[in-house]
Amino acid sequence: MSSRVTLPELGRMKRAGQRIVSVTAYDYSMARLFDQAGVDILLVGDSLGMVIQGQENTLPVTLDQMIYHAAAVTRGAQHALVTCDLPFGACHGAGERVMDAAVRVLKESGCQAVKLEGGVRMAETIRYLTERHLPVMAHVGLTPQSVHVFGGFKVQGRGEEQAARVLEDAEAVAEAGAFAVILEGIPATLASEVTARLAIPTIGIGAGAGCDGQVLVSYDLLGLFEGIQPRFVKRYLEGGEAIREAVGRFAREVREGTFPGPEHGFDP
Ligand code: KIV
Repeated sequence: MSSRVTLPELGRMKRAGQRIVSVTAYDYSMARLFDQAGVDILLVGDSLGMVIQGQENTLPVTLDQMIYHAAAVTRGAQHALVTCDLPFGACHGAGERVMDAAVRVLKESGCQAVKLEGGVRMAETIRYLTERHLPVMAHVGLTPQSVHVFGGFKVQGRGEEQAARVLEDAEAVAEAGAFAVILEGIPATLASEVTARLAIPTIGIGAGAGCDGQVLVSYDLLGLFEGIQPRFVKRYLEGGEAIREAVGRFAREVREGTFPGPEHGFDP
């Protein structure tokens, strides 16, 4: 695979109408496989709180945990741009404080960018970071860190008033210097309108086909996460079934005494 995807390259892809492909990654081995599959952006999402840690939502995830996973993903990625979520609590407060957290992420993990949730309310923070050349991906619509404010993982941007708010959020983060924006859990027509209005790429998840790119949580795409199953997920593999079958076969062979065979041992 050629050299690493860059911020200017993502802008060029939007202008050329070339769709951007993104998946979440949390560890070295998976990151390596996704990278070899030609993914453009590996997102170290704080969804790891749910799919890796088994938490109810993303709120308990810490900055140290994000850095730990982002470092592993970065070691597996030759081609994809690696972007790491700033977890709940790390992007609140003054720009300098958020900058310190974001600098730690880039320095300690080696990834190329951070992502943070929020529109108008985060625009000033995004500007603080981007003016200091720290690449920021934004995230608006159904922002999972706001789960308690929304009263659950609920679709956003329905109705004129809410739609106007999402549009305003997307425009604010683009104007503040974000290099791309995730549009999550909003009506497809609204996502298409946002995409047409913005000069930066939009990456959709549960936002229809009119975005400049798409992202899915890899554990959903691969059928490995058996918790909440949002309607927008398409499973490209029944990974859970495949793993149960493989480990079940291993267990049977151990119990029958047919594994290990002579070929798995060492000569004296
Ligand atoms: O945390 C995450 O995985 C995300 C994606 C769902 C966009 O933010």
